[in-house]
Amino acid sequence: MTGPAIRLPARGTPGRQILEEMSGLRAHDADWRGGRTWSLVYYAGEEVEDLIKKAYTMFIAENGLNPGAFPSLRKFETEVVAMTADMLGGGPEAAGTMTSCGTESIMMAVKTYRDKARDEHPEISSPEMVLPETAHPAFYKAAHYFGVKAVRIPVGTDFRADAGAMRDAVNDNTILMVGSAPSYPHGVIDPIKDLAALAMEKGIGFHVDACLGGFLLPFVRKLGYPVPDFDLRVPGVTSISADVHKYGFAAKGASTVIYRDKSLRRHQFYVFTDWSGGIYAHPTMTGTRPGGSFAAAWAVMKHLGEEGYLRLADTIMKTAKKLMEGINSIPGLRVLGRPDMSVFAFASDSFDIYALGDAMDARGWRLDRQQRPPCLHMMVTPAHEKIAGLFLSDLRECARAVAENTSAVPEGTAAMYGMLGTLPDRGVIKDFVLNFMDDLMSAK
Ligand SMILES: Cc1ncc(COP(=O)(O)O)c(C=O)c1O
Repeated sequence: MTGPAIRLPARGTPGRQILEEMSGLRAHDADWRGGRTWSLVYYAGEEVEDLIKKAYTMFIAENGLNPGAFPSLRKFETEVVAMTADMLGGGPEAAGTMTSCGTESIMMAVKTYRDKARDEHPEISSPEMVLPETAHPAFYKAAHYFGVKAVRIPVGTDFRADAGAMRDAVNDNTILMVGSAPSYPHGVIDPIKDLAALAMEKGIGFHVDACLGGFLLPFVRKLGYPVPDFDLRVPGVTSISADVHKYGFAAKGASTVIYRDKSLRRHQFYVFTDWSGGIYAHPTMTGTRPGGSFAAAWAVMKHLGEEGYLRLADTIMKTAKKLMEGINSIPGLRVLGRPDMSVFAFASDSFDIYALGDAMDARGWRLDRQQRPPCLHMMVTPAHEKIAGLFLSDLRECARAVAENTSAVPEGTAAMYGMLGTLPDRGVIKDFVLNFMDDLMSAK
């Protein structure tokens, strides 16, 4: 091969034709509008979609890199952050920024604590953070990028962080502790109060990853469901991340990271004063910041308001309850732990759960596979209300078929996960995944 087979076309194509081709390409994409996916897309219906599209396109060209040039974007960002901080118990001193995703918010938080430690504790040459094994991989990415050692602590049998074990892991190099509200794999909230009290006692930062729960738990609690304290109201919580593009129903590219006060946020900023292009000052990781995602986040929060979010949370929680009860009533299946909101996983003690995933794939459902223990993952959104019954009847039929066919040789992802599960050397698995990524990221 001398170079990529796909090249910039020598001649242009009319826009209408391009759009037709693009719309055809969607035919093979996951059907999120029909509620067939259980991750990646948070859909609150046509009205919200229409609004965020219009808001996004209105500001599609504007660049949040320089809020001085675009006071509109500055208003959107600061007000999204202020509304979110208020929702999550931040006092008048709370301060934050928008970022492009939950991962960036988490990475910014880790960088903030690292830089704070550099300023205030220069004697710490190898900073560490202590986190439950269920914490999102964004923390490991941050650890890798920013030179902070991630000390990973097993969770309890209820899948929640083990505060005692985390206490034992804190040492003189620890700059940060982490908890999730809720965790992605099992949808449970870590014991934030205990963890934050410990962080306060040790004089270190405590970040709550509420990327998933930040825009749902406040409303779930208002609806009367039991929700333990998880946000900036808890003494010792020094920062929190919450994604507007998840249960806030904004367009993609909208998350928030919020600190207890401005003095902490300052460590997030990056300033370079000696560039020939001028003084460069930037709040987050990316350079150019898409105005459309700030605009759409602001628009959807103003549009839905507390009333709209409560209505959506009610639908989500009722649908999640129906699904969890339905799954628990299927022979051989059980929901893991006691999920606190609408995110959960289910496993089987009697048959290969990945084979069930494959059988459901064949019926057009997309369920994410998880490991340790093997299970399938679901995140419920309002789009699932209408299809919950159909999903459960398909799941019951597929579970029966898989249970009756236990001698079948695994195929598809069941075979792949089965093979990966037998490999003790995680380096081999990493190589396998890297090869897979090379393939995925190549034009075909
Ligand atoms: C708990 C949690 N934290 C962080 C993230 C990362 O968010 P993003 O995919 O927007 O980077 C996710 C994504 O699902 C998540 O569930």
